[in-house]
Amino acid sequence: MLLNKMLESDVVIFASPVYEQHVTALMKNFYNNFSFMFHRPRFFNKKAILVSSTGGSGLKGTLSYMKMCAIGWGFQIAGTIGVCGVTLKTDEAYKEEVQNNINHLVDGLFENKETPPTLYQLAMFRAMQSKAFGSAKKKDLSFEYWKERGWFEKIYYTNVKINLFKKIYSRFIRKIMKKLISSKLMIIR
Ligand SMILES: Cc1cc2nc3c(=O)[nH]c(=O)nc-3n(C[C@H](O)[C@H](O)[C@H](O)COP(=O)(O)O)c2cc1C
Repeated sequence: MLLNKMLESDVVIFASPVYEQHVTALMKNFYNNFSFMFHRPRFFNKKAILVSSTGGSGLKGTLSYMKMCAIGWGFQIAGTIGVCGVTLKTDEAYKEEVQNNINHLVDGLFENKETPPTLYQLAMFRAMQSKAFGSAKKKDLSFEYWKERGWFEKIYYTNVKINLFKKIYSRFIRKIMKKLISSKLMIIR
């Protein structure tokens, strides 16, 4: 099973060409199948590499979508590789530049230190925390999953060191989430 294969791996490479400004339908189907992973992430000690190619456009949006999914599932992003047909060169200097970038990416795979979450990751954590908490009445899978891991009391999924500014930001986001929920601006069922 794909899920087990990913769980057994240290690094997962997600790759898709750009089709109609997005990942292919096949790749989207893969993401849809695992969409529960946003609510019950599990790949915290694993790295992801994101690869995409395009004839000319849509690379940034496609890679950014793939990045959002990988982060949402808990992965650490080791690097992204994007190839654009229009700007692709074949001269030696370009090949060397590509090789250097790949070497740098591979070196990063062997670094063991966990990178602290970005502001986006912290905000995403708070959003998912509110969502999981909101499902308490139904006692659904996400609620149990979060409870078992003690995530309702936490500032982030892992115990990675988070600086003071980010801690304050995270509390601020939690307050906003609470307000949104109580004002029913955000429907959580
Ligand atoms: C159905 C389809 C849709 C595509 N959509 C785009 C597009 O929106 N923008 C673009 O620049 N290239 C587009 N392309 C070109 C592909 O991105 C390019 O051929 C691809 O990166 C090469 O990978 P492949 O050989 O695995 O398809 C499209 C190609 C196909 C077949």
